Amino acid sequence: MKKYKIALIPGDGIGPEIIAEGKKIMDSISEIENFEMDWIEYPFSADHYLETEELLPENSLKEMEKMDAIYLGALGDPRIKPGILEKGILLALRFYFDQFVNLRPIRLLEGVDCPLKNKKPEDINFSVIRENTEDFYVGVGGHAKEGKSNEVLEINRSLYSVKFNLDIEAEKDEIAYQLGVLSRKGTERVIKYAFELAKKKNKNRVTSVDKANVLTDIYGFWRKIFEEISKEYPEIETEFNFVDAITMWFVRKPEWYQVIVTPNMFGDIITDLGAMIQGGLGLAPGGNINPNGISMFEPIHGSAPKYKGKNTANPIATIWAGAMMLEELGEGRSADSVIKAIEEVLKEGKVRTRDLGGTSKTNEMGDAIVERLKG
Ligand code: IPM
Ligand code: MN
Repeated sequence: MKKYKIALIPGDGIGPEIIAEGKKIMDSISEIENFEMDWIEYPFSADHYLETEELLPENSLKEMEKMDAIYLGALGDPRIKPGILEKGILLALRFYFDQFVNLRPIRLLEGVDCPLKNKKPEDINFSVIRENTEDFYVGVGGHAKEGKSNEVLEINRSLYSVKFNLDIEAEKDEIAYQLGVLSRKGTERVIKYAFELAKKKNKNRVTSVDKANVLTDIYGFWRKIFEEISKEYPEIETEFNFVDAITMWFVRKPEWYQVIVTPNMFGDIITDLGAMIQGGLGLAPGGNINPNGISMFEPIHGSAPKYKGKNTANPIATIWAGAMMLEELGEGRSADSVIKAIEEVLKEGKVRTRDLGGTSKTNEMGDAIVERLKG
C-alpha cells in the first residue's frame, strides 16, 4: 500500500480546528482509495514560540525534507509583533523548500453565493500563479537615520546569491527602504510553470500582472522574461495587465481570465480579492509548490484569532488545500472526489458555517464532507 508521510503544522488561532477537519477528510479518502497517510505533527506556532523562543529549528526542516508534503493550518497571533511568525515560520518554510509557485485556484463552486451580480460558477474559474520566493518578499531592507551609514545586505539562495553594499547618505531626514529582487532563473521558472499549467488544463490565455509603468526596472525585467518564455508557447494567447486595473477587471469581467502569473506581492494582494469573488476567504485554498521537492498546502486565509476555539470557522479552504496536496502527490482521483464532495455539500446547503450564513460547526462541515465521500 502506498504510504505518504505528511508534516502537519496546525499553527495558531483557528489553525488547529480547521486542520483537524482537513486531516479527517484525508484519512477518510485514503481509506476509501487504499493508500495511507502518516502524519507527523509539529508544534510551530505562537504558543510554542512564547514558551520556548523557538520558531522553526533546522533539525525539523531536515526531517521534513524526507517527507512527501507539508499541511499547514494558519499562523499569526496578536501577542506577537507582526512579521515574527510570518517570516520566521511561514516564509521560512516557503523559502527553505524553494516552493517557488504559489498556486491559488479562484473558482466559484456551485451552491456558493457570489458577491458579484449575475456571476455563475462558469464565470469564475481561473488560476493565479503567484511567484513565491522573490520580489519584495526577499526580506532585504533597512532603516537609516539622518547622516552617513553603511549596510551590507545579502540574499543567499540555492539558485543564486547577491550582496548589496550600501553607502547611505541621508540628508535632512531618516528613511526606511525595502528592496525588491527578481532573478532571471526565478522569474523564468514560474512563468514557465504558468504556461505549462495552461497547456495541461487546455487554457488558451495567460495574463501577466505587474506595474511596469512605474516600477520599470523590476517589472520591466519580469515583462521581458514573460515575452521570451511566451514565444515557446505560440498556441497560447498572452496579455499584460497592470495590477490596479486587474482588481477592477476581477469584479467587472472575471470570466475573461484563465491563467494569471504575477510577482509575489501583487499575487498576495489580488488573491485576497480572488477569494472574495469565489465566495469568501473560507473557501480559498493555496499550494506552495516546488515541482521537484517538498510542497506545502494551506488555506490562504489567516489564523482569525477572534474565532479561535469557537468551532465556527469554515474548514473548506483547508480541505480543498488538502485536495490540492493529493493532486500533487499523484492521487488525482482522490483529489477530484474530495472537491466533488465539497461541492455537493455546498450545493445541498444544509450544512453551512457562519461565513456561509449558517450555524453549522467546523466539525459538522467536516463530517458532512466525509459522509459524501463515503457515498
Ligand atoms: C498569504 C499570507 C502571507 C503572505 C503572510 C501571512 C506572510 O498573506 O499567504 O497570502 O503574505 O504571503
Ligand atoms: Mn495574503
